[in-house]
Order: sequence, then C-alpha cells, then structure tokens
Amino acid sequence: MKSVCSILLALSSLYCISAGDKVTPIVLWHGMGDSCCFPFSLGSISDKLNETLGAYVYSIEIGPNVVEDVENGFFKHPDKQIEIACNKLSVEPALAGGFNAIGFSQGAQFLRGLIQRCTKVKVKNLISLGGQHQGVYGLPRCDGISSSLCDFMRKLLNHAAYTEVAQKILAQATYWHDPLDEEAYRNGSTFLADINNERTINKDYVTRLQSLENFVMVKFENDSMVQPVESEWFGFYKPGQAKEVQSLEESDLYINDRLGLKQMKEESKLHFLQVEGDHLRFSWSWFEDNIVDKFLKN
Ligand SMILES: *[C@@H]1O[C@H](CO)[C@@H](O)[C@H](O)[C@H]1NC(C)=O
Ligand SMILES: *[C@@H]1O[C@H](CO)[C@@H](O)[C@H](O)[C@H]1NC(C)=O
Ligand SMILES: *[C@@H]1O[C@H](CO)[C@@H](O)[C@H](O)[C@H]1NC(C)=O
Repeated sequence: MKSVCSILLALSSLYCISAGDKVTPIVLWHGMGDSCCFPFSLGSISDKLNETLGAYVYSIEIGPNVVEDVENGFFKHPDKQIEIACNKLSVEPALAGGFNAIGFSQGAQFLRGLIQRCTKVKVKNLISLGGQHQGVYGLPRCDGISSSLCDFMRKLLNHAAYTEVAQKILAQATYWHDPLDEEAYRNGSTFLADINNERTINKDYVTRLQSLENFVMVKFENDSMVQPVESEWFGFYKPGQAKEVQSLEESDLYINDRLGLKQMKEESKLHFLQVEGDHLRFSWSWFEDNIVDKFLKN
C-alpha cells in the first residue's frame, strides 16, 4: 500500500489522501484507580497517538462519568465490564473495520477477555502494558490517599478471595491467584480461571485469541505493584509455593496448549518486551520505537 501510495502521490497528492492508508484505530483500557480520560494519564497517551499517528483513539469508560469509571475498576465484576465495553465498541462506527487495543495493567487482561468473548468486534493487535495474565498474589504496599481502601482489599484478598461475596464485590478478587492452592483458584476465580481455560477448554476462546495478528506483552522490570511480575509475561509461581517462578512456556497451560498460546508462539504472534522502571513507567520515545513503530502503523 505504501509504494502504491507514493506513486499516486506523484500523480496527485489529493487522490493519495483519500485513497491512501488509513491508520488502524486504537482502543485503550485503563488500569485500576485510573480512568479513561485523566489528562495526566490516558488522556495524554491518547493525544500523543492522535498527534504522531493520526489515529482515531477510543478510551473505554465504564460508567457515565470518570468518577464512576474509577470506582467500577474496583467494584464492578470484569464480566460485566467486558459486556459493557463490548456493547459500546460494537456500535462505534469508526471501529467497525477493526482496531488495535492497548491495555494498561488490569485493563490488559480485561481486553484479552473482551477479545475472547466479544464476537461483535475485531481486534488486530493486543498490546498489554503490565497486564496480569496469570493473576496476582499479593498487593502492593498501602500508602497514599487510598490506603484505607487498599488495607480493606488486602485483608479481603488474603483471607477470603474465593468466597462468593469477595468475587462479587471486588474486581481484583476475580484475578487473585493463590499458588499454594491452585484448586481453590481454579474453582473460585470467577474471571481469570475462566478466560484462561482452567476449568474447561472453551474452543471459541482459543479461536478468537488466535485471530490476533500479534499479542505483545510488556513487563516492567522494576515493578513494585505486581506480584509476581512474571504474570506480565503470562508466567507465575510454580504451583505449591510462592517463591520460585516459572515462565509461560514451563506452565501446563502452555504445554497442553489449553488457550492456544503455544500455537501462537510457533506462529511468531507472541512478543515479550521488557522495559526498565516501575509499573507503567515508560517514556514516550520507548513507546514510539517499540510499540507504535512496530505494531500500530499498519
Ligand atoms: C485528533 O485530535 C484533533 C484535535 O482534538 C481532532 O480534531 C481530530 O479529529 C483527532 N483525529 C482523529 C483521527 O481522531
Ligand atoms: C473444587 O471443586 C471440586 C468439584 O466441585 C470439589 O470436589 C473440590 O473440593 C473443590 N476444591 C476446593 C479446594 O475448593
Ligand atoms: C531494574 O531491574 C533490573 C533487572 O532486575 C536491574 O538490572 C536494574 O538495575 C533495575 N533498575 C532500577 C532503576 O532499579
């Protein structure tokens, strides 16, 4: 398309603009404690993507305003959030031809859930920035403004993550992964164990995930929020203990290809990138070189 475009450009620049490459639109899904549109976080990423790529950017908002959007990141079940996002995205005319998706932290596993479940959208590339594809075991230190909420969450998750009530009220409980009791996780996690095909193999999940052109997982080398950080590359603790970690390739999920990831790796669709720094800390120039130029330009 590019070379056709440059020939056309020589003939008529006007024609080229109307018939030339259209940048694939981009959908963003924010992380916990964040919202679709804060100017200091996703708002600025969205502007930069617009400026540098000329891409149409849609940032998912769960709820009627940013306050509820932030709250829903804690208190609305991911199943429900995905359903809402699925309905919103599918009626957006600019996204009808497909889009690239960028998930921030928990927004990354929610986007993967969306890809696996929502038949009404077509996603080309999934970029996961610090997403927790094997869940988390442990919460970051509690300080700052939301420390009472954090303390409440920590207690609930440490002692009762897999109870019906915790699964219902706290989104983070649905991707809590206790390596000391994998069976309790498989039985009790109402979101992650489902989208990871831990209980049964949902063939549609495999097919839809494999319809991606690329699944890019970015790990933050000095992440102090996500335990264990290997979850950002789909790895986790070896079952039965919480010290030693294993990579995706060493896990049963991969070896038995329950989710189709082994085949995706063989087709070179999986990309494991790492960047120095704490959770979601990256420079725009890193992002441009490693993500924008490689995955968002077609
Ligand atoms: C980029 O941002 C400008 C200014 O807000 C807006 O007018 C334009 O429609 C945006 N471009 C796309 C492709 O959405
Ligand atoms: C998991 O579910 C199975 C089948 O319902 C049950 O037999 C088993 O006791 C459960 N295990 C745990 C740890 O909850
Ligand atoms: C981040 O982690 C890497 C790998 O563990 C280490 O080499 C590097 O020194 C760390 N950087 C900072 C700023 O802590």
